Amino acid sequence: MSTPDATKIPRHVAIIMDGNGRWAKQRSLPRLEGHRAGAESVRAIVRACGELGIGYLTLYAFSSENWRRPKAEVTALMALLEFYLQREVAELDKNNVRLAAIGRIHELPESAQRQLDKSIEALRKNTGLTLVLALSYGGRTEIVDAVRSIARDAKTGALDIADINEELISQRLYTRDIPDPDLLVRTSGELRVSNFLLWQISYAEIHVTDTLWPDFRKPQLLAALDDYSKRQRRFGRVAPLEGN
Ligand code: IPE
Ligand code: IPE
Ligand code: MG
Repeated sequence: MSTPDATKIPRHVAIIMDGNGRWAKQRSLPRLEGHRAGAESVRAIVRACGELGIGYLTLYAFSSENWRRPKAEVTALMALLEFYLQREVAELDKNNVRLAAIGRIHELPESAQRQLDKSIEALRKNTGLTLVLALSYGGRTEIVDAVRSIARDAKTGALDIADINEELISQRLYTRDIPDPDLLVRTSGELRVSNFLLWQISYAEIHVTDTLWPDFRKPQLLAALDDYSKRQRRFGRVAPLEGN
């Protein structure tokens, strides 16, 4: 597949990376092997997004609900996160990638938090793709955290209730400095949002593929971008030609 038309490249792509467990099961491997192979897809997709001039890539890496998985899997995922951050920082830097994290980061193991801080700091001055990792992330808890922060300010009088609007709420979310996603991709064929970026995806175009995350590489990304480039985004209005 050829490189998509630069004018139709989304500014922000968000991906629900699903299907690692099924990928492993198909090969009679432990689930962890699926997560390991998934980390290789992350590497490939981050590089491809940078090359294509995408501004933001948000990856759903660990949800608030994923804490309910067996302890051994959670521990392995956290170790894999640390390992990935450590191993990839040089390559990310070479590719001018900036790093950010959204979610209840304080819930991660301390060593993972330290590694995350270190990597974010090391990549802070880069100006290319911003890679946003959603970690211990849940869209509903994000809204709860925003409501708490607004209520606190309303109570002290720092904020007038009449000033609460969509812009203000956006500014209180973990994604305050990040534009809303234009394209939401979900791998492994599941037709659900699983508590991801609930507020931010109001007008995102959705691309679902049956490909399992460890098999999602540059050709599958290009197919998603091609699908996106054919969408007509209307934002509730009528199509341009009908409007006259
Ligand atoms: C996605 O793959 C990775 C995480 C949620 C951390 P899964 O582990 O959910 O894989 P399936 O859905 O069981 O195949
Ligand atoms: C969504 O996948 C979360 C991540 C990709 C991190 P899940 O596998 O946790 O979602 P459900 O359980 O199928 O909805
Ligand atoms: Mg899953």
